Amino acid sequence: MNEFQGKRVVLGVTGGVAAYKAAELVRLLVKAGAEVDVALTAAGAQFVGAATFQALTGRRVWQALWDERMDNGMAHIGLTRGAAALLVAPATADFLAKLAHGFADDLLSTVCLARDCPLLVAPAMNRQMLENSATQRNVAQLRADGVSILGPAHGEQACGEVGEGRMLEAAELLDDLHAFLQPKPMSGKRVLLTAGPTFEMLDPVRGLTNSSSGKMGFALARACVEAGAEVTLVAGPVALATPRGVRRIDVQSAVQMGDAVTLALPGQNVFIGVAAVADYRPQKTSAHKIKKGPSSLTLQLDANPDILAEVAARPDAPFCVGFAAESQDLAANAEGKRVAKKLALVVGNLVQDGLGGDTNAVTLFDAAGAHVLPPGDKSEVARGIVAHIARLMEKQLGQH
Ligand code: C5P
Repeated sequence: MNEFQGKRVVLGVTGGVAAYKAAELVRLLVKAGAEVDVALTAAGAQFVGAATFQALTGRRVWQALWDERMDNGMAHIGLTRGAAALLVAPATADFLAKLAHGFADDLLSTVCLARDCPLLVAPAMNRQMLENSATQRNVAQLRADGVSILGPAHGEQACGEVGEGRMLEAAELLDDLHAFLQPKPMSGKRVLLTAGPTFEMLDPVRGLTNSSSGKMGFALARACVEAGAEVTLVAGPVALATPRGVRRIDVQSAVQMGDAVTLALPGQNVFIGVAAVADYRPQKTSAHKIKKGPSSLTLQLDANPDILAEVAARPDAPFCVGFAAESQDLAANAEGKRVAKKLALVVGNLVQDGLGGDTNAVTLFDAAGAHVLPPGDKSEVARGIVAHIARLMEKQLGQH
């Protein structure tokens, strides 16, 4: 969506094969609303030409220290003034070495030295170049200097070898940069979430489930990571990609979800039950396919454990948050659930507003009353929920 609206990003491109991914990253950034200024080194231009970056950004590309476009002739100073971040992707072994030692012998290295915004680098090189103690020393020095290192990943390399050193994909870099720019009110906190539906098996091919897409829970998990938390997500059967930085545990039934939550619970500061847990499960799961029989079939069902209520009832309960998806009487039902399950916060929404789609409209119910969040994209709504949780936890701490 417009996650980078109003933000200017300076992208440094140095001379590695992965420079082609930088072109894709520019496209994604621009699509997300960012203004992008590309600073291209001479070696970078050997891989992807300035014309490509100019076309993708709609802006001239910066290549020379002596560029006269800045009024004062000092592109190396002006370029990062007012920018949200400076990201070098790909960052070659040579460029990391220059950065670590403060060299300033071309435009990009000088921009890095004179920067007035956070610096992130996405290393890209052959695995042996990365493993070399000189590179390892340089990366450690950059970390100590407050530079954020994104990746690199393990995988197939352009040289034909397989190992560590591949630059992250453009979409991963976009996610990491976005996460980096978010406020960090959950820093140092551990968050456990459930998401998605559960599937209660009737026989090897059939079961009871519901239409929860898992999108809200996954968006919340991502927002918690962006806010600085360490996140574990227990997910029912959904076909969604795991948000970056989230530890995911896949389960099928409500009982399995409850067991996974119990195992992961020690040490958690926050528990958010987003999953649409099936209230009942078949009393018997048939080992073989149930055959068609007489005109009606009666199923005996047993009640499933209420995972959230059980967690909230523990003497050492973390900060507990529940969801209430209702088809009517939202306020009464949501506040009723909050009190009955002893929750600090309930996120209420009408099913017609949220189920399955990419947007949601929610109201937050806590001890102080009801708070309506602006409706929007689920990721935007998730960020609003996380900010509210962080504020409530802060207040709680203040009272103790
Ligand atoms: O189903 P109900 O409306 O009571 O769900 C409210 C909250 O309780 C949700 O946050 C849901 O994740 C949680 N829940 C649960 N285990 C259940 C039923 C609901 O954790 N068996």
